[in-house]
Amino acid sequence: TRLKYRYLDLRRPSVQKAIILRSKILRATHEYFDQHGFINIETPELGKSSPEGARDYLVPSRIYPGSFYALPQSPQLFKQLLMGAGFDKYYQLARCFRDEDLRGDRQPEFTQIDMETSFLDEKGVQDYTEGLLKKIMKDVMGIDLKTPIARMSWNDSMNKYGTDKPDTRYGMLIHDLSPIFKDSDFRVFSGVIADGGYVKGIAVKNGAKAYSRKKLDKKQDYIKRYHAKGLAWVKYEDGDFSGPVARFLTDEDKEALKKEFNLEGGELIVFVADKWKVCCDSLNHLRREFAKETDIIPKHVFDFVWVVDWPLFEYDEGRGRWVAAHHPFTMPDDEGIKLLDTDPHKAHARSYDIVMNGDEMGGGSIRIHKRSIQEKMFKALGFTKKRAYEQFGYLMDALDMGFPPHAGLAIGLDRFAMMLAEKDNIRDVQAFPKNANASEPMMHAPAPVSKGQLSELGVEVDSKYSDSVKKTEDHLEDEAQKDADKNSTWDKN
Ligand code: AMO
Ligand code: AMP
Repeated sequence: TRLKYRYLDLRRPSVQKAIILRSKILRATHEYFDQHGFINIETPELGKSSPEGARDYLVPSRIYPGSFYALPQSPQLFKQLLMGAGFDKYYQLARCFRDEDLRGDRQPEFTQIDMETSFLDEKGVQDYTEGLLKKIMKDVMGIDLKTPIARMSWNDSMNKYGTDKPDTRYGMLIHDLSPIFKDSDFRVFSGVIADGGYVKGIAVKNGAKAYSRKKLDKKQDYIKRYHAKGLAWVKYEDGDFSGPVARFLTDEDKEALKKEFNLEGGELIVFVADKWKVCCDSLNHLRREFAKETDIIPKHVFDFVWVVDWPLFEYDEGRGRWVAAHHPFTMPDDEGIKLLDTDPHKAHARSYDIVMNGDEMGGGSIRIHKRSIQEKMFKALGFTKKRAYEQFGYLMDALDMGFPPHAGLAIGLDRFAMMLAEKDNIRDVQAFPKNANASEPMMHAPAPVSKGQLSELGVEVDSKYSDSVKKTEDHLEDEAQKDADKNSTWDKN
């Protein structure tokens, strides 16, 4: 209902405030880049589909029936080509489109604060980014952001926070307890470690009283969606351990746990024994839940951190293959360039993410500026030569014509505005957003179009959708009739 009558919703002061905050970020961004000699260049919205990233939004061509433009997921390759053209400092407030499953921090269309520079390394790009963030925080929020922003390696982030988007506003870090439990009598633990897995855990201050057995059973069910097999726990109160797993703890284990977590009394300690990735995922989500529920997250704090030293590739379970962790145009580090020939999936990338309060605000990298490395990258991603050249021949061709080393980054403006406005949905900082089903209930988008329009485009809707198209058309007609009946002055004029 709020989205159907969005123009009324937008009258409310709290909603207006968020939209005005967004406008202030835009103004500060333009001012900053202008002050630093960046050139604002717009790149096309009608481009070519590139199946590497998320799903594309396609636009049928009338002049070439059966061919399609794709809306940009980001201006990545255009901005790289602009570096080849000699525009050393580019920026754009770029509209991006991604057809992915929507969440609170994702919309099908959104804006990136997009930048690219020639001849700068990681530090150079990060310095400009920090300058921009500093100005935005000052102009929009009146906050003095301390720079340089801390750096954390991807590995540390995964091991301590269980995620590549660490929430650094509070502690409650994940500990690797495998050394303590490798010879434990509790077979659930020692068995997993013997099979190459890990036992990891977190200690929740004041958790002993706050969490009943029943509540912990619920948590166990919750982490099953991250493929955890169970959740073991103990409580530490009055100098002693209790709970179902406590009887498996030797005196030595107890001393080790006390030391490891610096236990003071009143803590709940939870354990997950599993493969490394499962331990990370489930403890990351538990940590976030425990933090919210025990109210330890400081309010009105904006805590930034750079996550650096990423793997070049990651395994995508859904697609069943290796994909680029950032994107296929990211430069491997020196060691990684050698590994591309032998063991590509062990390579590290020269990429960096800027994370705030546990959410990814932006990311970027040093780009590949040599054809031979770009070809090896495509090979490692499983491209055939034919497909690589069909998709990206123009890029490889361009790289041969004298390309400066270049690097850049993009910040998700909507996500950033949402965080600064302290909202939990991106919808709140877009004037006319889509709902969770990617539709817009005021104008009714998307909607069926006339047969004439389709035929002009050479497009036909599969007959298996005839019923649902008819239903949508009937529904829209009903709505129109209702609107017309309500207050129309049509027949009086
Ligand atoms: P990436 O894909 O990481 O990088 O996107 C950059 C930032 O854009 C934001 N973002 C989104 N915001 C709202 N809704 C979405 N669906 C959505 N998807 C992404 C995030 C993210 O950090 N071309 C590269 C950047 C570069 O290398 O320079 C890129 O697009 O905040
Ligand atoms: P069980 O021996 O299967 O009855 O499990 C005893 C306790 O260990 C229960 O609280 C389980 O939830 C917990 N548990 C079982 N498997 C795991 C695991 N892989 N990691 C952490 N705890 C587990």
